[in-house]
Amino acid sequence: MNILFAWVIPYIVILLFLGGMILRILSWLKIPVPFKLTVFPCPQTGAGVAADFVKESVGFRSLWRGEKSLWFMSALFHLSLAFILIGHFFGIGFLGQQFTWLGASSETSLNLSVLFGTYAGAALLLGLLLLTIRRIGSPTMKFISSFADYLVLVLLLGIVGSGMYMRLFHEVTYEAVQTYLIGLLTFHPVPFPDNMAFIFHFTLVQLLLLYFPYSKLMHSCGLFISRWLIVRPHERQVILK
Ligand code: HEM
Repeated sequence: MNILFAWVIPYIVILLFLGGMILRILSWLKIPVPFKLTVFPCPQTGAGVAADFVKESVGFRSLWRGEKSLWFMSALFHLSLAFILIGHFFGIGFLGQQFTWLGASSETSLNLSVLFGTYAGAALLLGLLLLTIRRIGSPTMKFISSFADYLVLVLLLGIVGSGMYMRLFHEVTYEAVQTYLIGLLTFHPVPFPDNMAFIFHFTLVQLLLLYFPYSKLMHSCGLFISRWLIVRPHERQVILK
C-alpha cells in the first residue's frame, strides 16, 4: 500500500497533470480566430501589453473595476497563495536556511521561515474562508454555483487546513519532507514521512493536480492566452464596448 501511494501514484498524477495541461492549452490555441477583434481600451505597444499584463496578474485590475470586497478577497487569496508556494520551494528546498543568504544566522533564518509561513498561511486561510462565505452566503451566488465550484473550495480548504495544522503543531520536519521529495525527483523513492497530516496534505494536492486541467482553476493559465495578449497590437481591430 505504501509503495502504491508513496512511489507509484505520484508519478501517474504528474504525467496526467502535464498531459491534461498540454491538451487543454493546445485545444485553446486551435480555436479559430476569424476576426482579430479586441475591446477598447487596449495597449498599442508591446510595453503597454506587458504593463497591462502585470496590472491584471498582480493588481487584479478587472476586479477592481467591480465589487471592491471581491477584489480584496481575491487579492488576499492569490497573493498569499503565491507567498506560500514560493515559501514551500525555499523552506523545503533549503530547510528554512534561505535567509542566511541575507546575513541572518541559521536560527533566525529558520524562525523567519516559520513566521512568514504562519502569517501567509493564515492570510490564505482567511481569503479562502471569505470566498467560501461569499459563495454560500448569498442566494444569487448559491444559484449560479455548481458542484465544481464547491469541489475546488473543499479541496483547497483541506490542503490549507492540513498545512496549517502541520505548521502550528510542528507535526513534520522539513528534512523528512525534503528526503521524500528528493527521492521522488531522483527516481529513488523512499517511504512517506511517518505523519498522517502530511499524507493527507500531499494526497489532496495530488487530487487537485488531477482535477486542475479540467477545472475553472485553468483561469490562471487563461490569462496568458487572452486576446489582448496574443493578438499583436498592429493587427488588432478595436471595437468599443
Ligand atoms: C507537493 C506539494 C506540497 C508539499 C510536499 C507540501 C508540504 C507541506 C509541509 C511539509 C507543510 C508544513 C510546513 C511546516 O510545518 O513548517 C506545509 C504547510 C502548508 N502548505 Fe503545503 N505542501 C504542498 C503543496 C501545497 C499547496 C499546493 C498548497 C496550497 C494550495 C499548500 C498550502 C500549505 C499551507 C497554507 C501550509 C501552512 C503554512 C506553511 O507552513 O507554509 N501546500 N506543506
